[in-house]
Amino acid sequence: MSKRKLVTSALPYANGPIHLGHLAGAYLPADLYTRFQRLKGEDIIHICGSDEHGVPITIAAEKEGVTPQEIVDRYHERNKAVFDKFGIDFDYYGRTSSETHRKTSQDFFLKLYEQGVFKKKSQEQFYDEDANMFLPDRYVKGTCPKCGHPEAYGDQCEKCGSSLSPTDLIDPVSALTGNKPVVKSTEHWFIPLGDFQDRLQEWIDSRENWKPNVVGQCKSWLDGGLSDRAVTRDLTWGVPVPLPEGDGKVLYVWFDAPIGYISATKEWADEKGDPDLWKTYWQDEETSLVHFIGKDNIVFHCIMFPAMLMQQGDFILPENVKANEFLNLEGRKLSTSKGW
Ligand code: MF3
Ligand code: ZN
Repeated sequence: MSKRKLVTSALPYANGPIHLGHLAGAYLPADLYTRFQRLKGEDIIHICGSDEHGVPITIAAEKEGVTPQEIVDRYHERNKAVFDKFGIDFDYYGRTSSETHRKTSQDFFLKLYEQGVFKKKSQEQFYDEDANMFLPDRYVKGTCPKCGHPEAYGDQCEKCGSSLSPTDLIDPVSALTGNKPVVKSTEHWFIPLGDFQDRLQEWIDSRENWKPNVVGQCKSWLDGGLSDRAVTRDLTWGVPVPLPEGDGKVLYVWFDAPIGYISATKEWADEKGDPDLWKTYWQDEETSLVHFIGKDNIVFHCIMFPAMLMQQGDFILPENVKANEFLNLEGRKLSTSKGW
């Protein structure tokens, strides 16, 4: 039995209002779980916050013709208030634009960098010549090469759950201008997930009581073989890469966002006037860490973040990752970015 529990709910993007799909998928189950454990007398905290980086934010800003900062300021406050009205209780609701988070994620990156785990490689990337920018992730849309879904994103197909690279898409177009993008080369730092394959496999095999949908997705990832994943992007919005050669680049949102759970716990401890208290929740093996997420987040919480944590070495790994299916309306997933 663990001595204490740390519950996290996926940090929702501050790019639009929270909807019932969010509540059903992650936050209501996490809230129920936390309340139940607390009633049983467990030492438990529930951490969440806004995910304020990444392409979903900048695309929302471009659509409205405002700055990304305006978008995140607006939706951080709104979403926090909505959770409160729905009676979803968090011990702390942080945000990834905070100073604590910038420092925590840059330190995390630097530790891995100094350990020599990253590979620096140049990569062919789509570029929009009218917008004068590289088009990472969701800046490219097209047809999924795996299932034929016509509206797949450059990072993922939401229909079949495949994780993609923009260059995998059939008939790719820029989400900014609708143009057919050109290809240009750029340099990035990659985490060699293949080097973690055996450790991840062993770790997942040793987990108990994981949901079949989660184990199934992990298995298909591992069976397919893990490859290098870029942890940086050519964008101006995000946590700056803390290296001189990283000028003009930021950390990939899926690198910094899960670290947001740690930064938010630090801020929670500061607010309690016991600045070291976060360590008992993140560094004591007797803490059981449970993530509540939506199913499109499985690979990041079960493969990518655990690999980062294994390498970093100072933190515990999750005991369980609870992911639910999407809530559909008329057969389509409720979605902020698609306005459905
Ligand atoms: N913002 C992501 C989403 O809404 C979830 C981020 S979870 C975290 O899908 F681990 F990265 F924080
Ligand atoms: Zn697909």
